[in-house]
Amino acid sequence: MCGIVGYVGERSAERVVIDGLRRLEYRGYDSAGVALVHEGTLVGDKKAGKLANLVKALDETPLPETTTGIGHTRWATHGPPTDGNAHPHLGTERRVGVVHNGIIENFAHLRGELEAEGVTMSSDTDTEVAAHLLEREVRGGATLTQAMQAVCRRLEGAFTLVAVDAEDADRVVAARRNSPLVVGVGQGENFLASDVAAFIEHTRDALELGQDQVVTITAEGVEVTDFDGVAVEPTAFHVDWDLSAAEKDGFDWFMRKEIFEQPRAIADSLLGRHDEAGRLQLDELRMSVEDLRSVDKIIITACGTAFYAGLVAKYAIEHWTRIPCEVELAHEFRYRDPILTRDTLVVAISQSGETADTLMAIRHAREQHSKVLAICNTNGATIPRESDAVIYTHAGPEIGVASTKGFMTQLIACYLLGLYLAQVRGTKYAEEIRDVVEELAQMPDRVATMLERCDEVYELARELEDAGSVLFLGRHAGFPVALEGALKLKELAYIHAEGFAAGELKHGPIALIEKDLPVFCVIPPRGRDFLHDKMLSGIQEVRARGARTIVVVEEGDDTVVPYADTIIRIPVSSTLLQPLAAVVPLQLFACELATVKGHDVDQPRNLAKSVTVE
Ligand code: F6R
Repeated sequence: MCGIVGYVGERSAERVVIDGLRRLEYRGYDSAGVALVHEGTLVGDKKAGKLANLVKALDETPLPETTTGIGHTRWATHGPPTDGNAHPHLGTERRVGVVHNGIIENFAHLRGELEAEGVTMSSDTDTEVAAHLLEREVRGGATLTQAMQAVCRRLEGAFTLVAVDAEDADRVVAARRNSPLVVGVGQGENFLASDVAAFIEHTRDALELGQDQVVTITAEGVEVTDFDGVAVEPTAFHVDWDLSAAEKDGFDWFMRKEIFEQPRAIADSLLGRHDEAGRLQLDELRMSVEDLRSVDKIIITACGTAFYAGLVAKYAIEHWTRIPCEVELAHEFRYRDPILTRDTLVVAISQSGETADTLMAIRHAREQHSKVLAICNTNGATIPRESDAVIYTHAGPEIGVASTKGFMTQLIACYLLGLYLAQVRGTKYAEEIRDVVEELAQMPDRVATMLERCDEVYELARELEDAGSVLFLGRHAGFPVALEGALKLKELAYIHAEGFAAGELKHGPIALIEKDLPVFCVIPPRGRDFLHDKMLSGIQEVRARGARTIVVVEEGDDTVVPYADTIIRIPVSSTLLQPLAAVVPLQLFACELATVKGHDVDQPRNLAKSVTVE
């Protein structure tokens, strides 16, 4: 939520900041703005709407060349997305400019205090109070760094703040609490950003910041302190992907590119995690075998697509380990006073590692002394850092707002975890584990096969361009796939879509079925108890009521032919791993339908990539 960039060095700050914002626009795109330090003043511009509006305004009215600046792309929380509410916000004397990600919870109180002193607010935002407070401090003689420390001590809530002082062109100062911020370390230049993508074309050397820290960058160096000014040593890391990973590579959308990257993402996420005999090796887990053996309950917590990955994981983990596994939406978790003990393993799944709801859930779990394991795609993000253990997914940067390869690799990480627990606890024979590992190793090819069949899915999407509603049915591990298919369609095509457990249909939702309503049916593999046949009955029920059935079914299964209006074939897989292949056509369908409807697939309306507010 909101992308932030800060720069000081030798290049054009405007160019570095705008390029950085372009790569962070997935975080929010309601408005954008920049502020640059120029000869003792702040110059800049800000515009409602996408970054393109700001860029157009800057082309028409160029700013002077400067080498120090900040910028912001917004996902609105306080106040509608107008020019006035866009960041940066300035103090009354226009000396300090600040950009902000998060929510300052005590802003009303601070605003009252400032207004009582005669300050007139010019926006509806919580951020503006920080600009006035910082300016008050520097006018009183503090450096911008000291001002930031003092102001942060007074702020409550979640925030990343990045600020410049017109009278101190050499530094940009930032602070973070419960909101992302990384430092890019260059030669004679340094960068601040919500995410490394903003500066990856300039440097791959970065510093991670902890909670409640203030960082000052100059062209020559970086200094980090806590909010009391005590020096702190940041953790350095090297980004293991490069600019090409953050570009579209000839695809029309990042999302489509990321769907097509899935075979590689699966292979990368499996790499080095098992030996040739199929024995899992998850040394990075940082949890002892004793701790894993004593686990008597698993609670998976996550939001949105990551939650659906958790629902699939439940089927696999319970089957392989016999440990009871609950899956809980992170924003509901702590409010129901869950039963957590030292032997509960809480698994937090988050692509970004910054989702505020999930972060709060794991903090609650740790307060109750449960062990927390993160499954995350972002190195050094807050959720893995605050967890006892972590399995990183190696999907590479996911820029499209709708998660695709993130979901796919979350599934892989969940399977690896389930198998590892089964290995450590001896609930599966080594040969059984090896068989699943071998099948996992075949999944990149099976997913690639699905991608080769994209044209038939695209054609279907074009045919259904005017559908007002689409349903998705699944059973067992196919049920979360149905939910995920519906979510993708809602968020990208903006049409009504719902996923159901097929067995639930007759308990109510079947009333929704009417003539020609498209219904996707994800069919379990043959031979899995009675599931397959039960699913066939479900299809017949909807078809008898006039629905148009689109059946996602394994190769060679012709039992569905009489009941299918459209058949999408998927490679034969075991029941528990089938979601990896079955979800691909649903991703492609949503991407294409949104494209033909003329929507911005990478930046769907009202959404943002990482939801850093609760
Ligand atoms: C949907 C989507 C979201 C995220 C959810 C959690 O396509 O991307 O539902 O899955 O906001 O995000 P992370 O995984 O970053 O915690």
